[in-house]
Amino acid sequence: MKAVIPAAGFGTRFLPATKAQPKEMLPVFDKPTIQYVIEEAVASGIDDILIVTGKNKRSIEDHFDKSFELEYTLRESGKKDVLKQIQEITDLADICYVRQKEQKGLGDAIYCAKKHIGEEPFAVMLGDTITKGKIPCTKQLINVNQKYNSSAIAVEEVPNEKVERYGIIKGRPVEDCVYKIDELVEKPSLKEAPSNLAIMGRYVLTPDIFDCIEETEPGKAGEIQLTDALSKLNVIYGSIFDGKTFDIGNRLEWLMTSIEFALDDEKSHYQILDFIKTKI
Ligand code: G1P
Repeated sequence: MKAVIPAAGFGTRFLPATKAQPKEMLPVFDKPTIQYVIEEAVASGIDDILIVTGKNKRSIEDHFDKSFELEYTLRESGKKDVLKQIQEITDLADICYVRQKEQKGLGDAIYCAKKHIGEEPFAVMLGDTITKGKIPCTKQLINVNQKYNSSAIAVEEVPNEKVERYGIIKGRPVEDCVYKIDELVEKPSLKEAPSNLAIMGRYVLTPDIFDCIEETEPGKAGEIQLTDALSKLNVIYGSIFDGKTFDIGNRLEWLMTSIEFALDDEKSHYQILDFIKTKI
């Protein structure tokens, strides 16, 4: 299976940090966000990845490219561990790039992948969401996609105050944690929302989604919304992810995610705890 990572947005919610660097390159603890996403793809059995980029996104390509000068310098100075880490980034997966020429929305960004994808189901992984789970989120969706032979998206219950930030679904449970979806609404007001089940940034889609995107008119914010295109699919399932999702598209959650990942790191754990204690 192939994966598409849309990473073409301006990152306006994160300005000024994203004025000259892509939000996908903002580090969470010690790695750029997009590296976590690619590691999830690889852990899900995917090694052919298309990143949809836009202006100011060159550093994403540089990050996954081979850096001869850096590798030479690290080798000469005997920094073998760092050298190994750097080389592993380059070898993670086959990564291709396509540019979204105009920012016409997430649906349009995914449409840029049409030629690369062909006729097989494929994963969509948003570049500003990180997941943590025993079975990777995308792998869980692949399982649902294969079981029902249909598109599957990750959903998660969110509190009322967050409903407006997400695509929201309404569905009927067909088994534990899996819903057959009847309705999808992009960023509804709390009053309009059909439930509290939010779309969390991971999708496994059947290729008929491209026809649906073609038929989709601009929606919320005047953009071609992936959620509106998903509503046009004949069948689609929502699966509650067994794990934890981190939406780092907002500065506070990004910071909290960094702290959580630093606490997961054996070497940093106690130093971070001590620091927090002094602040409290
Ligand atoms: C996008 C999708 C939305 C989804 C969200 C998850 O919105 O349009 O349906 O719930 O990602 O993060 P964005 O956050 O790009 O505005």
